Order: sequence, then structure tokens, then C-alpha cells
Amino acid sequence: MTKSVLGIIGGSGIYDLPGLENVREEHVASPWGEPSGALRIGEMAGLPVVFLPRHDKGHRLSPSDINYRANIDVLKRVGVTDLISLSACGSFREDLPPGAFVLVDQFVDRTHKRESSFFGKGLVAHVSMAHPVSPRLRIHLAAAGREEGIDVVRDGTYVCIEGPQFSTLAESLTYKQLGYSVIGMTNMPEAKLAREAEICYATVAMVTDFDCWHPDHDAVTVQDVIKVLVGNAEKAKRLVARLAKDFPREHEPCPIGSDRALDNALITAPEA
Ligand code: ADE
Repeated sequence: MTKSVLGIIGGSGIYDLPGLENVREEHVASPWGEPSGALRIGEMAGLPVVFLPRHDKGHRLSPSDINYRANIDVLKRVGVTDLISLSACGSFREDLPPGAFVLVDQFVDRTHKRESSFFGKGLVAHVSMAHPVSPRLRIHLAAAGREEGIDVVRDGTYVCIEGPQFSTLAESLTYKQLGYSVIGMTNMPEAKLAREAEICYATVAMVTDFDCWHPDHDAVTVQDVIKVLVGNAEKAKRLVARLAKDFPREHEPCPIGSDRALDNALITAPEA
């Protein structure tokens, strides 16, 4: 049996995790380069929990400058089995206003200048990304939301743009027309790399704005985003505390095989 180790990646506005006990800071080295910062390793309600602020303290790293490979690698090295990404996002849906939490089940990757695989020259692997989010983690997150009285929407599609600029009006209207639910700048390639590392992954997409498609919300500004971030961060921390309290102590096999993703993915011949 594998023990559960819960990883939490904090996005914009989430640079610490109150309630994390017996914490030690560890600078874990990675052959993939520098992760966003030291891991904060501790426990919540007796569950091993590892926290990493994606942009580092003080929001030093822009989405394109984050070393997603090193982040996932160091989380894997300390034994993370299940990873929750807490991420600010814009919304394309009137019924997902600022403050809404969405347990996205799909991603669209529109990033173009990020290292998005641990594989490549010499060792080629193709993992399935058909279902990028662990359904089991979404169920646990939905239950934690229910227990805490926090409304969570159970599905949605997250489009990940390169940034750091927000979208143009034409882009925003296009994404909306394509049926995407929310937009952000960080969950890809993070979700792909978690899959390659055989870590179960789920996102809590926390809406901060209506992007720029909405007739009553002309443009996104960082000030508007920050105003909502503070309330979202407080709710997210409560959600995580409850999740940790109720989380299974033994790792449950992922029904879609996220934790065994490499079993049928390697294509390079062993003797090559
Ligand atoms: N993060 C928060 N709001 C966003 C938006 N509108 N577009 C991209 N990333 C975001």
C-alpha cells in the first residue's frame, strides 16, 4: 500500500498554507533546474502535505518563467501522490462570477514557449491526456466544499494561455464561443507533467474576473483581480484544510490510471 501524500500548488494570492503543522522547508534539487522555491513539508490533520507557491513568495515568477518540470519533479521526489492546483482564473460564463470555484475536468493548451515534457531525445513516451484530471480528486474536493459550505462547480474547461498579457477581445469572444469555461496562464503544462510523473492532478479554478468579453466588464485589471483573490484565498485554504482532514490515508488507485500513466506510454525500444 502506498501512503497518500497531498501536494498543494498555490497560485496567485496563495503564498502560504496556514494550518500546515510541523513544517520544514526543504530545497530539493532537480536535474530539470530550479523549482519555484523551497518546498514546505508538513502535515494537516496528520496527513503528509507538501506546499509549493507557484510564483514564489512575492510573486517573483511570471507564468512563462515558472520551471514547471522542476516543480513537478521535486514534488514527485518527496513522494507526492495527489496534487491540487489552486489557480486564479477568468470566466467565460455568466453563471461563474468572480468568487466561483470550478473543479475543471478538461484543459486546452494554448501555451507556446514552455518545456512541456520530461521525455524527448533518446527516450520517447506518449501518455494519454484524454482525461487530464483525476475524477477521484474532484470527488474529494466536491465533498470538502459541501462540508465547508463552499459552492463548487463540478466541471468545466480551462484554456491556458501563454500570457503574461490578458487576452484581446477577439480572443476572449472566441474562447467563449468555443464553450470554454475559464481561462488562466499556468495549468498547462503543469497537468501534462503531473501525468507524466504519474501524480494524480486536479485544479480548483478560482474565478477572479470576467476576462474582457463581458459587456459590463470592459477589461481585466490586476487591481480587480487582487480584490477578489483575497476572499478566494481564504476560502481555498478552508477547502484544503477540510480536504486534508477527510483525505484517504492510503493512496486510492486512480480509476483512469493517472498513477500508472507510463505503463503503456514508452515507445523507445529498451535496447535502442
Ligand atoms: N488569471 C486571472 N484572470 C485571468 C484572465 N482573465 N486571463 C488569464 N489569466 C487569468
